[in-house]
Amino acid sequence: MMLSQTIQTDAIRDFAVAVSDGLRKVGQRELPSVYLYDELGTALFEAITLLPEYGLTRAEERLLRRRAGDMLDSLPPPVAVVELGSGSGRKTRWILEALAVREPIAYFPIDISASALVKCHQELGSLGAISIVGLEKSYLEGLQEAAARRRPDQTLLVLFLGSTIGNFDPPAAEKFLSDLRRHLKPGDALLLGADLEKSVGDMLLAYDDPAGVTAAFNLNLLARINRELGGNFVLRNFEHHVRYQTTDRRIEMHLRSKRTHTVSIRAAEFACTLKEGETIWTEACHKFRVEEIPGLARRTGFRCEAQWIDPEWTFAENLLIVS
Ligand code: TRP
Repeated sequence: MMLSQTIQTDAIRDFAVAVSDGLRKVGQRELPSVYLYDELGTALFEAITLLPEYGLTRAEERLLRRRAGDMLDSLPPPVAVVELGSGSGRKTRWILEALAVREPIAYFPIDISASALVKCHQELGSLGAISIVGLEKSYLEGLQEAAARRRPDQTLLVLFLGSTIGNFDPPAAEKFLSDLRRHLKPGDALLLGADLEKSVGDMLLAYDDPAGVTAAFNLNLLARINRELGGNFVLRNFEHHVRYQTTDRRIEMHLRSKRTHTVSIRAAEFACTLKEGETIWTEACHKFRVEEIPGLARRTGFRCEAQWIDPEWTFAENLLIVS
């Protein structure tokens, strides 16, 4: 009891520090996107993946459904699958089913959301000869633990799906892949999902859907600050705002203040005045070119073994092998 209370307090303190640091930034205020995923945020994100305008998840699911067998061909058994940010595990099923054809499944889903890990168990627990060890941790901490638990004969296949790599800015993405590489051995693999650049209209619609689900997902970050940190954000004072930065090739998600007003956050001992039209930047989604992946792989200690592209929604699944 004492311990869990201490952990809870630490998490709240980290959240408070991250929020006040972000909101204090000069020029462009920011909030860290990792905090979008509380229980409600995770549910809203699941709803995003079902939106007709958001083709990314279905594209990746098609690729995995059709090509999982090919993807596993270059990996000698036995394989242990580690997934960074497993979410509900719906797409993962195809990889695990293809694996089950040749060997018992060892699967380590890693997610910061406990509810995502529960869903993952429900979705995949019935796959037969499967051992699931869920790790409620950040990506690299989870990977470190999974790597420590792997049997020496097992090849690790790390799944990093959903173009989450695009939610890092490019230098941070490169650093993240290098850090990830350090937990792996030669012959281990990384299956990396990357959404590709498409028409600006399609990209804007994917992140600003007419039903307002993505807007709700974004605004929930302010609601979460109210709930957990004693913030006094009035959600109706903000609107979801999405833009595409052509030079950096990234979608940006912002919360735009509709009027000049003051907000305060008790647990962060923070207050500020937001001007009318001023935005808080909450997320970036980098869009890739298929030819940039092999270079990214090489610079981070991998070689790009194969790439598969969905014919309906330009999305690439990339198999990187540790060199
Ligand atoms: N990585 C996915 C993407 O870039 C999922 C995602 C992350 C997302 N943050 C988001 C989707 C915010 C919608 C809105 O699309």
